[in-house]
Formats: sequence, C-alpha cells, structure tokens
Amino acid sequence: MNRPYIIMHMVTSVNSKITGEFLNTDAGKVATDEYYRINREYKADAYACGRITMEESFTKGYRPRLSAYKDLPAIREDFVAKKHGYYAVAIDPHGVLGWKNDIIKDEDPGYDNAHVIEVVTNQVKDEYLAFLRKKNISYIICGEEEIDAKLMAKKLYSLFGIKKLLLEGGGKTNTLFYNADLIDEISLVLCPKVSDGIDLFVNAKFNPKKFALKQIKTYNMQVMHSIHLRKTRIK
Ligand SMILES: NC(=O)c1ccc[n+]([C@@H]2O[C@H](COP(=O)([O-])OP(=O)(O)OC[C@H]3O[C@@H](n4cnc5c(N)ncnc54)[C@H](OP(=O)(O)O)[C@@H]3O)[C@@H](O)[C@H]2O)c1
Repeated sequence: MNRPYIIMHMVTSVNSKITGEFLNTDAGKVATDEYYRINREYKADAYACGRITMEESFTKGYRPRLSAYKDLPAIREDFVAKKHGYYAVAIDPHGVLGWKNDIIKDEDPGYDNAHVIEVVTNQVKDEYLAFLRKKNISYIICGEEEIDAKLMAKKLYSLFGIKKLLLEGGGKTNTLFYNADLIDEISLVLCPKVSDGIDLFVNAKFNPKKFALKQIKTYNMQVMHSIHLRKTRIK
C-alpha cells in the first residue's frame, strides 16, 4: 500500500454529534479522557485534522500578516522542511492557519512535539507559502481547487514516511477521507448522551457493507469504545 493506514478516531454522542454540551458532562469527560488515552495507545506517526479543528485546538484563530512575506520567494512545489518522525497534518485548502512554530506544543503527549505539515490546494496565496517556508513548516499541494485526498495520502507516505495516520475530525474532514475511500479503521468513543452539535460526517456517501465490528469495550460503565475494520482488511 503506497499510503498510510488510516484510523478515524472520534468521540461522539448517541446521535453522532462530535461537538456539544455532552462533552462537558461527567460521561463526556470520561469519554474524552479515554479518547486521549486511546490516541496515545495507537502510536501513530501522525494525526490529521481539518482547518477548523486545528484553529480551535492549536492556532486559536491567529492569522499571519501576509503582506510581510510578499517580497520573499514563494515556491509552488512541495516543501519537506524536516523529517521529524511525528507529524500534525493540517487540511487547510486555502492556507490560512497562523502557526507560530513548526512544532506543536501541547500538554498531551499524543499531540505534543509534532511537526506541522500543511495540506493546501493551488488556491493558496504565494505569500502564505513564503510564510510557511520562513517558519520551516512543511507543505504539500494537493489539488487545484479542492483537496485531492488520495494524492495527499500518497504524498504523506512517500515524502514523510507516514505509515499510520490518526484522522481526528472534524466532520467535514472525516467526510473528505471517507468519500475518497481512505478510512481503514474507525475507532469510536461513544458517550451515552443525546446532543446538538456538528455531525461525525457531513454528506458522506455511505456504503453500509464496508466496515465490520472488531471489538467493543466499556469504561467506567459510562462510555463505550468500538473498533470497526474495513472488510477488505479482515483476515
Ligand atoms: N468529538 C471529536 O472527537 C472531535 C474531534 C475533532 C474535532 N472535533 C470538533 O469538530 C469541529 C469542527 O468540525 P468541522 O466539520 O466544522 O470542521 P473541520 O473538519 O475541522 O474543518 C473543516 C475545514 O477543513 C477544510 N476542508 C478541507 N477539505 C475539505 C473538504 N473536502 N470539504 C470541506 N472542508 C474541507 C475547510 O477549510 P476552509 O474553510 O478553510 O476551506 C473546512 O472548513 C470542531 O468544533 C471540533 O471541536 C470533534
């Protein structure tokens, strides 16, 4: 396989919401703790999130002042700033995320010390590419107007050696991978609450026969964790 093995790992409510008040309940906190623990247990080479999730979790809405980079050379080809062994893959089609550093700093060892790889389309501005180079942040250009997810997966494998990738939301990004047939395993931490919020998938084209249950566990009698494998991967 010339792409990473991809595990979609998420916490959801009973009605498949991935955001909402349920996350602040006692059961939601148990679910979130289990989610982070399982993330670490997978020992992946990288985690991938959409622009909105990256913004919420790491860049906190900061946008670079691009005029400062307009006189620097922008090279419209993939940029491997470093081989680091652990990566944070940001799906950011227009190139807007304001990273302060090429390495993520986070209290949780499952996210800490990951080198950022920006996944952009050709819609990205020259100044943003120059900004990334200046910050020593890697980037790959995948698609003209929309992210070509298959191309992205190939490049993550061939340029960075990523063999196991955790896909960690949000719903739009999960759908991008699902519709491109790139999800090999689904790991769901289910919190027994009904909620409003954002959906696990947004307009996915489902094939109900694609996945089969591998295991179910319960934690503290409050949350359930299930693993579902792509059928072609079951021996
Ligand atoms: N419960 C959990 O386990 C969990 C895990 C992770 C995240 N979350 C939550 O998920 C929420 C965000 O979810 P979300 O679905 O709104 O956003 P998202 O998936 O985090 O990011 C969506 C963005 O990614 C970009 N994108 C790349 N390719 C895309 C495509 N083919 N289709 C659509 N967008 C594409 C777009 O950026 P542009 O708009 O710049 O074009 C889009 O707005 C956050 O609030 C976060 O807390 C929950």
